[in-house]
Amino acid sequence: NWTASAMAEELVAEVKQRVGAGRAICGLSGGVDSSVAGALVQKAIGDQLTCVFVDHGLLREGEAEQVEKDFVAATGVDLVVVDARQQFLDALAGVSDPEQKRKIIGREFIRTFERAARDIVSDRGDEQHPVEFLVQGTLYPDVVESGGGTGAANIKSHHNVGGLPDDLQFKLIEPLRSLFKDEVRQVGLELGVPEEIVWRQPFPGPGLGIRIIGAVTAERLEILRAADRIAREELTAAGLDRDIWQCPVVLLADVRSVGVQGDGRTYGHPIVLRPVSSEDAMTADWTRLPYDVLAKISGRITNEVSEVNRVTLDVTSKPPGTIEWE
Ligand code: XMP
Repeated sequence: NWTASAMAEELVAEVKQRVGAGRAICGLSGGVDSSVAGALVQKAIGDQLTCVFVDHGLLREGEAEQVEKDFVAATGVDLVVVDARQQFLDALAGVSDPEQKRKIIGREFIRTFERAARDIVSDRGDEQHPVEFLVQGTLYPDVVESGGGTGAANIKSHHNVGGLPDDLQFKLIEPLRSLFKDEVRQVGLELGVPEEIVWRQPFPGPGLGIRIIGAVTAERLEILRAADRIAREELTAAGLDRDIWQCPVVLLADVRSVGVQGDGRTYGHPIVLRPVSSEDAMTADWTRLPYDVLAKISGRITNEVSEVNRVTLDVTSKPPGTIEWE
């Protein structure tokens, strides 16, 4: 008879036993899995754990703050924030190829995390208690998927902290590796992880970087972030969050469209809404959102984000379309 509180207790006890007096680090991404893993290990070993959040500037509006403030307030984790926004912009400058973007983001992420981990090792690990463990939010489906090694999961190179260089030589702690997503959410709520994080829809590691079709710039990120915030606000207001698997908002940055906004003709950019329904992201269908919700989103985006003069809806299932545009 599965209860979240019994499961949380058992997992906390296991981690405590395994780590003993050792030290651990955990990379936070803002997503559900790493947050719950971090909260769980914090519960087990307190400030023997240091969490690292690499702010790559590709998150949606409010998400970095949720990690830096709300998550810390709710769980008491010791958090190191690395502001790497400019570093990622520089590394991505002029790059529009999707796989190239993923490689760059993955590489910069690992470099930054590795640097932070080394700093923590030298600052906080003493001779008796070097940082020995790395916490990962691996779930049961991830274990199964990476064991298989074939299929749709390999069509795109997914970046995760898993690709850390060998010379760091941490032992892995994966407290969630026997759980499914819904169980992770229950355990997270049990541990006091904020609801906005626990119920977050899937969001790709490379973030908004692969939702700008074209090269990533600070200005384009601002435009997309504003449009995405509006779409999320309206979907939430309509009570649709749990009906939708996720709703990428995509900026066609290299496409321009003509519009009439305010006093005159504009030459702006189209935005694509990509709401999908899915069980596991392997297949998906486009969500039949109510017209009035679509109208509200479209009206607000074109009014409030002056660079966007057209909102379009993606009505493609997966396959043949992937959920993300890149
Ligand atoms: P696609 O676009 O392949 O997406 O239908 C399937 C699911 O995976 C997410 N996704 C990613 N997640 N790194 C990630 O961590 C990635 O590079 C990546 N690409 C896609 C996507 O949001 C969807 O949930």
